[in-house]
Amino acid sequence: MKKTVLTGIRPTGNLHFGHYFGACQNWLKLQEDPNYEFYLEIADIQALTDNFDNPDKVRYNVREITIDMLSIGIDPKKVHLFIQSKIPEIAELTVIYSNLVTMARLYRNPTVKTEIMQKKALFGHEGESVTYGFVGYPVSQAADITAFDGQLIPVGEDQLPLIEQCREIVRKFNAIYGETLKEPEPLLSKNPRIKGLDGGEKMGKSLGNGIYLADDDETIYKKVMSAVTDPEKIHKNDPANPDVCMVYYYHKLIGSHNLENICKECKHGQRGCVNCKKELVTNMLEFLKPIHEKRAYYEANPDVVDELLIKGTREAREKAMKVMKQVRHAIKIDYFEND
Ligand code: TRP
Repeated sequence: MKKTVLTGIRPTGNLHFGHYFGACQNWLKLQEDPNYEFYLEIADIQALTDNFDNPDKVRYNVREITIDMLSIGIDPKKVHLFIQSKIPEIAELTVIYSNLVTMARLYRNPTVKTEIMQKKALFGHEGESVTYGFVGYPVSQAADITAFDGQLIPVGEDQLPLIEQCREIVRKFNAIYGETLKEPEPLLSKNPRIKGLDGGEKMGKSLGNGIYLADDDETIYKKVMSAVTDPEKIHKNDPANPDVCMVYYYHKLIGSHNLENICKECKHGQRGCVNCKKELVTNMLEFLKPIHEKRAYYEANPDVVDELLIKGTREAREKAMKVMKQVRHAIKIDYFEND
């Protein structure tokens, strides 16, 4: 029996290098493993929990994220790529699970707590305006996972409290209604945090330090030229420490071919930062070239993108309907169902 791998992403912006090296590279490996059945969810309903006032943004980014995924090589023949809102079973499960979670437990979820505090404009300074939907999104995420019998959940560390809460819901469900649901396990990515070119500990949309896979050549040039280098290095021929330099960090990340030389020359004051940055730009553009070519293809062929999403969503729905049937049976609301 194949193990089911499931993960999701909120469509609130394009994929950046942090996503790619922190998560997507791992997905590309998982999709090649014949031992896994891989579901990849574009979590538009979850994105709406903190973007309910901006549906255009979510709608636009469902398409953008899909094109990003296809461009990096996510293969719809190997992965069920689908849109959350097109699987009504997820909504149905969310309602059912909401009886199995206390308010106190939801308010204690560290990930949700942190997010509420970060979103002051939306939820108030003390979180006093937080919505039922946002506090409850771990329940919806538990539905995302269990609707497909998700067993392995590739996520970053910040998501562990959500997986834990899903496991609790599954255990409670099974204890009350009988063994029905599978308990998922997190699959932590080894490369969890990608630093920004500004030296920030994490690259993120909200931090404004993202380098996006869809960035054009000029944007990449500008971003790299403004990268933080060793602050002790003043003159072009000063020796410097590559380990505190973001340009070197990115040379390493994308696997620049001449890495050893870069390091040596930098340490011996034989490498000016401007040249080093220009070389990084060249290497990054080379890395991005096949991704940009595929993006151009999908942008020019929107029908192809639609068809792939429709196919992935149909496959995902088939699975969710099967699980839903078992759940309805377990809680004795399987009225008028024949088998
Ligand atoms: N909460 C996840 C994030 O913000 C996205 C997500 C939605 C998810 N549904 C999921 C992750 C199911 C794993 C499993 O990154």
